[in-house]
Amino acid sequence: MGEGIRFRFDFSLVGASNLPGGDGIPAPAFRSAMGRVDRAVESLEAKHLKGEIGFPDLPFRVDEAAAIARDAAVLGRRFTHLLVLGIGGSALGTRAVHEAIGGPAARRGLHLSVADNVDPDAFFPLLAAHPMEKTVVVAISKSGGTAETNAQLSLAIAALKKAVGKRWKEQVILVTDPSKGVFRRMAEAEGLRSYSVPPNVGGRFSVLSAVGLLPLSAAGVRVGRLLSGAAQMESVFRHTKGTDNPVRFAAAVYAHYLYQSPKPVQVWFTYGAGLDRIAEWWQQLWGESLGKRRPNGAPAGQTPARAVGVTDQHSQLQLYQDGPADKVFTFVRWMAGRERGTVPAAGFAPDMAMLGGRPLRDLFDAEYEGTIGALWTAGRPIVRMEIGRRDEEHVGAFLHFWEWVTAIVGECAGIDPFDQPGVEEGKRIARALMGEKGSEGRRAAFDRQVAGILRAEIRIGEDLPARKGKR
Ligand code: PA5
Repeated sequence: MGEGIRFRFDFSLVGASNLPGGDGIPAPAFRSAMGRVDRAVESLEAKHLKGEIGFPDLPFRVDEAAAIARDAAVLGRRFTHLLVLGIGGSALGTRAVHEAIGGPAARRGLHLSVADNVDPDAFFPLLAAHPMEKTVVVAISKSGGTAETNAQLSLAIAALKKAVGKRWKEQVILVTDPSKGVFRRMAEAEGLRSYSVPPNVGGRFSVLSAVGLLPLSAAGVRVGRLLSGAAQMESVFRHTKGTDNPVRFAAAVYAHYLYQSPKPVQVWFTYGAGLDRIAEWWQQLWGESLGKRRPNGAPAGQTPARAVGVTDQHSQLQLYQDGPADKVFTFVRWMAGRERGTVPAAGFAPDMAMLGGRPLRDLFDAEYEGTIGALWTAGRPIVRMEIGRRDEEHVGAFLHFWEWVTAIVGECAGIDPFDQPGVEEGKRIARALMGEKGSEGRRAAFDRQVAGILRAEIRIGEDLPARKGKR
């Protein structure tokens, strides 16, 4: 197996005594946040024992992962390309893991594409770029009822039929609920190969199920190690006490900034190739899990934002420093990068001579530290996370870490981090607008309440006093 996981979590820059400007967490507030975290963990554990929550079990389903890896190896002998059709939790985790560990340059396997949009100008060219006779299509939808994925699948099947005729069925795999939904019925009716998503695992918590494991495995990712890393994080979480437990510590910090002393925005500033895709996965996890009403009806949530170091230092940093004090920052980087290249010694103007002969990484690290320093000086709360290595074990552990932190923070706030009523309503409206049978009432209500406004001409100018004469 692997060599064990290493992380550095640094919460020192959110302590009130370490942060100028009054936005740090005072010790008594942190102690009560830790108390709430303890109670939230107990409550989640009870739900887990009752089988209501399934994501903590995923790292231990190693037999299933091994079987998936064997199937993926068979796909690898027959095909050259794998096209994932899916959206949200059915797509983001796969892309995050693949790119975080280095994409096709790091692992040999099928060429992986993830189609998570029905923008015709993106989807049609993507489909056309696939050699369909050598492509396996993996359509992923936990519910099976997502219009976008259904439309994509129909188009992909049509392209497969054109390329390989009746053999199209050998080139379509569905990943969905084990017993219900459109995809499950389709798998049964057409005799398509399928994999199940455990019913107690929601989309954005499902990357370590067949949802992520099948496509990742086919792309060469060592999914056993992905699970092993997550299992090690689970063990750290289970067996470490108090503030030595990074999951509990992080949950207390973020719960504080979610609703005790709210910062409406959390920015992930990533410094390291591939990390922005993890940030994209986290964005969905954090936004969709925590953007809810609390029991007292008050809205909760924290807008998850992404910034890439060093690029966004020249785009967003000014705002972060001098704009509204409404953000908590999470800096994420690899402990050690891969490249060791050095900037040539000769050829610099005297003012820039300090760059010559130095590893480019020195500049990257200096920018990282400089940015943290600038934000800290401006009194912004900052958490730092460093990931030991850019490999499957560490990425698996990191994703699992964030799933737990998100679940606990939601539980602390008294909201259900595992549902997504707003997303479901959006899906129902989209289907109704497309003319779904049985949704006529919803369509009529939409037309009555909203459509008139959406489709009206913009007339704001008419309210302005008419201009006389020439400009
Ligand atoms: O996290 C979630 O549950 C959602 O974001 C879903 O992943 C997304 O809406 C896609 O749903 P489905 O997998 O049912 O097609």
